[in-house]
Amino acid sequence: MDVARRYVGARKGLVILDLGCGTGRFSVVLADSFDASVLAVEPSDKMRSVAESQSAHPRVRYVKGDAERIPVGDNLCDLAWLSMVLHHIGTVEAGAAELHRVLKPGGIVLIRNSFRGRLESVRYYEFFPSAMALDNARLPDAETVRKTFEKRRFRLVAFESVEQVVDRTFGEHIDRIRQRGLSTFELISDEEFQQGIRLMEDAAREEDPTKPVTEMIDLLVFARCQEGVEQCMRRGKRAAISSLGSCRSASVHHLGCTWFGSKCAYRTVVCTVWWPKNLPIS
Ligand SMILES: C[S@@+](CC[C@H](N)C(=O)[O-])C[C@H]1O[C@@H](n2cnc3c(N)ncnc32)[C@H](O)[C@@H]1O
Repeated sequence: MDVARRYVGARKGLVILDLGCGTGRFSVVLADSFDASVLAVEPSDKMRSVAESQSAHPRVRYVKGDAERIPVGDNLCDLAWLSMVLHHIGTVEAGAAELHRVLKPGGIVLIRNSFRGRLESVRYYEFFPSAMALDNARLPDAETVRKTFEKRRFRLVAFESVEQVVDRTFGEHIDRIRQRGLSTFELISDEEFQQGIRLMEDAAREEDPTKPVTEMIDLLVFARCQEGVEQCMRRGKRAAISSLGSCRSASVHHLGCTWFGSKCAYRTVVCTVWWPKNLPIS
């Protein structure tokens, strides 16, 4: 949450949407960390009932709903938190449109997710050979998500990787993997799963028993545009539109960006874009 605070600031009394809250493990942390009221939306009755019993909090309300139809009024939320949810949503575009509706102008979306092609730091893939390919196939691609959110009038604020401790020791890590709770392990055969556990047990003999297991997780941050798309993009230093005319065609000094490489570096190129007639300019 320290990383999240960088984008949210020290404001108190926020209204936060925890979309796809699962068992509510982040809902309570969000309520406490930001002194916030949290609307925790979750489609699964089973998950919601666990959340209601195990993650009850006076400022968290668990509500049935999903990303495609968020059961929240317009312009209500200061922050939307989506942790490991994006790949469950039917279409990211529908989710982005709904998030734009429920957020206040300037509201922030924090997406905590693993993305396609960025899984090298996850330790257990070493032991389950087909798991990484399966996850790469189902996880979203960060660049596509960025484009989708920008189309839906969000501005990219940041894309960063955060190191997190997933288990205090390798032994605890094996115990957790053994429970087969991660959806990745529903996708591989029983045989591969049991073989992987045996390989982990062998590897444990060589491990420092006091060393925590860490993974990198990505945080993709967007701000809901307060104004039209073109001003918003300009503000985000992503595009400076010199003449929009009737929004059909424009000459653009585009600040291209290699965000999705290992480093962020802006470079200036001049190009001409076709600006779609029907792009909403409010
Ligand atoms: C991997 S869990 C993450 C739960 C929680 N955010 C966390 O990080 O602990 C994914 C959650 O997304 C929920 N989900 C599935 N489809 C969804 C949708 N269309 N909209 C919102 N949430 C969805 C699932 O029910 C599940 O609880």
